[in-house]
Amino acid sequence: MIFNPFAVAKRLRKIGLVGINQRNADYVLRYNKRKFYPRVDDKLLTKQLAIEHGLPVPELYAVVREEHEIEEVHAKLKDREKFVVKPAHGSGGDGIMVVVGRRGSKYRRANGLLMTEDEFNHHLSNALSGLFSLGGQADAVLIEYCVEFDPVFDHVSYRGVPDIRIIVFQGYPVMAMIRLPTRMSDGKANLHQGAIGVGIDLPTGRTCKGVWGNEPVKEHPDTEHSIIGMEIPHWDDLMMIAATASDMSGLGYVGVDIVLDKQLGPMILELNARPGLAIQIANGNGLQHRLQAIEALPKLAATAQERVAFSREHFGTV
Ligand SMILES: Nc1ncnc2c1ncn2[C@@H]1O[C@H](COP(=O)(O)OP(=O)(O)O)[C@@H](O)[C@H]1O
Ligand SMILES: [Mg+2]
Repeated sequence: MIFNPFAVAKRLRKIGLVGINQRNADYVLRYNKRKFYPRVDDKLLTKQLAIEHGLPVPELYAVVREEHEIEEVHAKLKDREKFVVKPAHGSGGDGIMVVVGRRGSKYRRANGLLMTEDEFNHHLSNALSGLFSLGGQADAVLIEYCVEFDPVFDHVSYRGVPDIRIIVFQGYPVMAMIRLPTRMSDGKANLHQGAIGVGIDLPTGRTCKGVWGNEPVKEHPDTEHSIIGMEIPHWDDLMMIAATASDMSGLGYVGVDIVLDKQLGPMILELNARPGLAIQIANGNGLQHRLQAIEALPKLAATAQERVAFSREHFGTV
């Protein structure tokens, strides 16, 4: 087949793919007030707000704000086998360490590698200096409960916790995907770290297409299991949590990242004021038509239930 750029552009327009400039100009700038950004850019603040709103989040074990607190943290964590270290203002999985066990005084990371206390301290010190953080300013480090993902996804994730991203526009969930960690992504579910993105059909909560880097995929590259047609447990709860979290954030256009713990159920990991656009590729569908459908509503529904019901009715895969 001969590559025809006009045909490609026409098809992209038809499926309503939103590009980065359009996302910023028409949605992020228009619907997200700057004063609310700290609520989502600071993971500590997001956690506090979520607790105030009765939304589930992983338990906070410790916060490190100053260099001299680093040494004390080992004692605080001595009874914890597993935990996650993350910069409060990090993004894209940078600086996150998923610790899954110990060997003597060493810590074992999700990728299997052992880390000495010194290396651990060095990582924390880098994180405090802002190495992994938005804007590069000094940061705080959170240490929290390590989510144990629901075993239904054991076959399709490699040593890590998949997360479910739901984009919510003016309180209405508009598109979702599940991100599956791979060997490459070191326990993290960020696409830029090498995780796979798999689209989710909003009415049914079933997975559809997948993308790994720029490639469409049907199987997990490490486990070779099919990633299509999986049913996400607690789908309605997840949609409700996303809609409620968007209310709490005050942002009109927001990505809500949720994980499913096998014992504790769904939990919010973080919110994002500039959610990436690869979700469209993972779904084989653009965001534009859905966003416009919400903009065209004569009146927005007041309750999260009504909004979730609307989205499940109108935003199917086809
Ligand atoms: N508490 C946790 N338990 C298990 N895995 C986690 C936890 N927190 C983060 N992760 C893993 O790291 C990834 C990135 O974490 P996240 O909080 O979303 O930060 P970022 O802003 O860097 O994306 C998640 O998608 C998940 O795979
Ligand atoms: Mg994230």
